[in-house]
Amino acid sequence: MCSDKNSRVLHYQGHAVVCRDHETALDALLRAGAPIPFSCKSGICHRCMVRCIDGDVPEAARRKLPEHQQARGCLLACQCRPTGPMLLAPLSAEDSVTRCRLEAMNYSGDNRWQLVFDPFTRLTYRPGQLAKLMSERLDGECTALFISAPEDETLVTVELEDSTRLPEWLRATPREGLEFCLRGPLPVEPAEPVTPLPPEPGLWDELGGDSMVRAVLTTFYTKVYADPELRPFFERVTIDRIIGKQFAFLKESIQDQPVFLGEQPRNSHNWMVITDVLFDHRQNLMLQAMREHGIPDDLIARWSRYEEQFRPDIVKYKPWLKRVGDLLVDTEQYETCLLEEATVCDYCGDEIAANTMVRYHKRIGRLGCEACTASAAADGAP
Ligand code: HEM
Ligand code: FES
Repeated sequence: MCSDKNSRVLHYQGHAVVCRDHETALDALLRAGAPIPFSCKSGICHRCMVRCIDGDVPEAARRKLPEHQQARGCLLACQCRPTGPMLLAPLSAEDSVTRCRLEAMNYSGDNRWQLVFDPFTRLTYRPGQLAKLMSERLDGECTALFISAPEDETLVTVELEDSTRLPEWLRATPREGLEFCLRGPLPVEPAEPVTPLPPEPGLWDELGGDSMVRAVLTTFYTKVYADPELRPFFERVTIDRIIGKQFAFLKESIQDQPVFLGEQPRNSHNWMVITDVLFDHRQNLMLQAMREHGIPDDLIARWSRYEEQFRPDIVKYKPWLKRVGDLLVDTEQYETCLLEEATVCDYCGDEIAANTMVRYHKRIGRLGCEACTASAAADGAP
């Protein structure tokens, strides 16, 4: 790897790019067309986590990670403003598991085993989600279902999905104190999208009609666009556009007016990794906006139901495929094409000539000229 401490060359999976002054490591790698996953860009979803093999990891890029991941050199690329060269790599199996200590293993009858354990780092999960359990050596994988309620208990309880075949590492005795690894919670995609609530046309007028709903949405999205955790999702959407979309969506849902031309929430949020906590945070900003406009509590509750109903279509730990007609499309990928006409580079504004091969991220769609997407050597790096 480059040894010049002043150059911020990032190496990742065969791509080498010099990180520019205003860029995070994630932005630089995306500009270079590197296959790095991401979603929130605000340090919440951890999709952009990579490991630093060589180079200095800035404090801000690792402080949100548990100690064992920090010790392994893991970092969040979206929070990383490199101070020198870095050799980065995707996470290995060891990096993406949570280590746990078994406290008890109870037989609950009917061929069912429950495991009660203490995770070394905090687990965010809901009852009903699935996880993979495996030995410390990462073998002997089995599937388990979370059954404890994280808000009530510090210890976690899961039930093994197939208790008839215990893996070797779980047959060891004594079991108490046994250390093992957990991967999860695994993303569960609901089989069918939410069936929306029936409209309640009277509610629209009780709320104060078009002008009041629009005023509340304007206050709400002003808060969203100022919020460090929510703002990055809206990087490519203007505030007027999203207010217009949300207004039409609510008018159609509540007042039964066919005015919404967009996508249903499950499809439009397919790439957004949104936890329950982040969803609650959004709803709290909405509550504040409604209160600031003097909407009474009973109407707030009735309006909120039209938003809350989409939680299962929006909260997830991994992007879902996007449905386009009968097809399921992976939007989190790059594509290559030959430009039929000249266009302008989305990074520096220079022209990209017709007949140039360009590589672009399917969802973001930004096109870069040769200088902006070139590997570090051609970019003037030593
Ligand atoms: C934390 C929670 C949420 C986040 C971060 C979020 C974020 C976003 C973003 C970034 C877009 C723009 C997508 C694009 O144009 O590419 C969007 C669109 C939209 N959102 Fe949300 N959203 C959240 C919750 C909700 C909820 C609860 C509803 C239910 C009412 C909702 C309804 C919509 C609708 C109707 C659109 C327009 C879809 C279209 O363009 O056709 N969102 N949201
Ligand atoms: S934490 Fe970096 S993209 Fe979400």
